Amino acid sequence: MSEFKMFQKLIYNDVGISLADHKRTLVQSRLRKWIREFGLSSYEELYEKIASDKSGQMLMLLVNAITTNVTSFFREENQWIYMQEHLNEMFDVKNRRIRIWSAACSSGQEPYSIIIFLKEHLKNFDEWDIKILATDISEEILKKAINGVYTKKDVENMPKNILLKHFNSIKDSNGISTFVVKDEIKKYIIFRVFNLVTGDFSMFKNYFNIVFCRNVMIYFDRPTQNQLLEQFAKLLNKKSLLFIGHSESIHKKDYTYKLVAPSIYKLN
Ligand SMILES: C[S@@+](CC[C@H](N)C(=O)[O-])C[C@H]1O[C@@H](n2cnc3c(N)ncnc32)[C@H](O)[C@@H]1O
Repeated sequence: MSEFKMFQKLIYNDVGISLADHKRTLVQSRLRKWIREFGLSSYEELYEKIASDKSGQMLMLLVNAITTNVTSFFREENQWIYMQEHLNEMFDVKNRRIRIWSAACSSGQEPYSIIIFLKEHLKNFDEWDIKILATDISEEILKKAINGVYTKKDVENMPKNILLKHFNSIKDSNGISTFVVKDEIKKYIIFRVFNLVTGDFSMFKNYFNIVFCRNVMIYFDRPTQNQLLEQFAKLLNKKSLLFIGHSESIHKKDYTYKLVAPSIYKLN
């Protein structure tokens, strides 16, 4: 399939995602399904349909097909432990201001975990000015995040008392329980579509105390990762933290950052 290269190029140029050659079979089978569904006759026709779609929705379908939205509450346990241990020195106590960015928030478990964590551990939580920016490239997944409705399986690892305190439990017409994040948690979070590769970082005017950029850099090649890390560096100060996923790393030769704990970085 020589068209694979065309799709590879499209997704790299428009989204920054590096589609590895070994994903060829997976992508091929997904695309074949769409060719049937859309009543098209070739990969080329599908390519044209995606490339000429100004709304970007077709491209998003492609992104959703090759990336995963897998996430969970309180993922990467050591990072939550680290925060708990360093809570007193992490934030600006004088101004009582906290700004955190969940930079590929998927269906919302990450930003909701952040607020729940702060509510549980930060002394005098109500006296702080707290805002969480939660972004993702996918509008569809953000809708899910904004709704904040989760299944029993989604919340199965959450301690019962936390679940009861921060979620409303609702039974649907089939008697199946769903768990809805309470408004008093939601109100701290601003959800926005943002592409980490092509997005305009200059619109962020202030420093973030923490940037969560977890399990998304794996889709980018090294130059794209470096470009993203450079952008983050402009939005962090010496006390800020950058959290990445456990299967990700920042190149040892990148002297902008220093590792302070597994998958946790500070500016050098
Ligand atoms: C595996 S999820 C990670 C969710 C969460 N950060 C975590 O670690 O649990 C990856 C997310 O990255 C998003 N994504 C992929 N490419 C992106 C890009 N260029 N800019 C922003 N988000 C992107 C996907 O839509 C997906 O929701």
